Amino acid sequence: MEIVHLSFECYPVAKAGGLGDVVGALPKYQVKAGHYAKVIMPMHRTKFLIANDWDVDFKGRANLDNWWFDYTIIKERHNTLGFDLYLVDINGLLDRENIYGYDDDTQRYVAFQIAVINWLDQWEHKPDIVHCHDYHVGLVPFMMKYCYQYNRLASIPTVLTIHNAQYQGWMNWDQSRFIPAWDTWKGGLLEWGGVINPLASAVKNAWRVNTVSWSYMEELRWNSNGLEALFEYERGKCSGVLNGIDAEVWDPETDKFIEHSYKVADVDKGKQKNKEALCKEFNLDPQKPLIVFIGRLVGEKAADLLPDAIASSLYGMQGYVNFLVLGSGDPDVEWQLKQLLDTFPGSYNVMIGYNEALSHRMYAGADFLLMPSRVEPCGLNQMYSMRYGTVPMVRSTGGLIDTVTDMGDWQGWGIRFNQASVGDIVHAVSRAVGLYYDDKKSLTRMRKHMMQIDNSWEKSVQQYFNIYQGIKI
Ligand code: ADP
Ligand code: GLC
Repeated sequence: MEIVHLSFECYPVAKAGGLGDVVGALPKYQVKAGHYAKVIMPMHRTKFLIANDWDVDFKGRANLDNWWFDYTIIKERHNTLGFDLYLVDINGLLDRENIYGYDDDTQRYVAFQIAVINWLDQWEHKPDIVHCHDYHVGLVPFMMKYCYQYNRLASIPTVLTIHNAQYQGWMNWDQSRFIPAWDTWKGGLLEWGGVINPLASAVKNAWRVNTVSWSYMEELRWNSNGLEALFEYERGKCSGVLNGIDAEVWDPETDKFIEHSYKVADVDKGKQKNKEALCKEFNLDPQKPLIVFIGRLVGEKAADLLPDAIASSLYGMQGYVNFLVLGSGDPDVEWQLKQLLDTFPGSYNVMIGYNEALSHRMYAGADFLLMPSRVEPCGLNQMYSMRYGTVPMVRSTGGLIDTVTDMGDWQGWGIRFNQASVGDIVHAVSRAVGLYYDDKKSLTRMRKHMMQIDNSWEKSVQQYFNIYQGIKI
């Protein structure tokens, strides 16, 4: 089966979060399972690009709001990622250092989508499935069906995977001029709440829709930033497919980013050595439990609660616990986290920024990983931490419900709490501290158990295949 993935991120070429990880891994495992999967993404100007060899594969011309633009399709020569990666270059629009965050993002997203379908339209053999990831490519299912110029694509089945329904890409109606001439009777299929809503449009027009966990799919019917009724109405074509993790990239036995590799049998020793190195680097005490947070410092991740939760925990349990935070996002949260440095030297540290290598060292060296997320469609951090024998402390929401059980349950291996609140986090911290000092035997059992849980992509690849099979022409 030939599957074409469309996305704005793909690890390691460009990653802002979990979307990049998933689009960098799912096609690789689809290829391993015997399919032909490729990824098409914008040619962002990231460092990785310079390190690889690229060939020009195709040159084309398309139109955006009466502006003719040239696009170039560039293909990675050596297939180092395990699948074919194609980049779309559009001068002045996609050739930027950052993936998102520009005033003209709407034009950038639409131009990318137009270039892709313009190119697809010229393929001799059409793919079996066009698989769209998130709202940045959410207009593709509509355009393939209802733009006159591209009606040869109308019979190709489309799948939408929603990695995060909070962001929907709202556009004013006057921006409908960006979309190539379309059947105006079908305007309702672009709209939600009086504006053009690319995510809603994709839910309406894609042949199948899935989210990245079962619990998040359920949640969307009562909490999806305005799309609740739509998800209720379209429930027949929606399902949940839990993300996997790339067990080749995330493996404490082979991870090149960590100083001391380890396996299930020597997890306690291996973790302690990595923790000692990490604590030395960040002036923390390796004899105390180390709780880390890694992620975007935004409301969805409840990062605004971290400064108070860390301060309250350290006032209550100072001398017994360490915290280390890695992340960037809301400037106010960043500032508050930096302020805490003077109050708790030796027990707390923070690194503002994005640092892939450090994140690996933290998964390996930490005892606990905190994720108090308000919204978490799947969450990869908790799965990475489990693979490194690090106990996840998670709020019971979305994919965190589907992947973590509480240590109070039979054979459980994590710490779960119900509210995204300072009180619930502090209580979870006290449970973690208790486990660390008073029940080392259970901690070791949990570490070993977690490391052996199979969260690999193979299972999810089969589920995606079942979805494709159901709609393949
Ligand atoms: P989301 O995509 O919502 O941010 P996920 O849990 O799906 O959340 O994925 C987050 C990914 O980004 C993980 O691979 C995590 O390790 C990584 N990550 C997030 N913030 C940072 C950071 N500051 N430095 C390094 N890696 C980070
Ligand atoms: C989104 C979600 C996250 C998920 C990731 C990959 O960024 O916020 O929960 O793991 O996509 O699907």
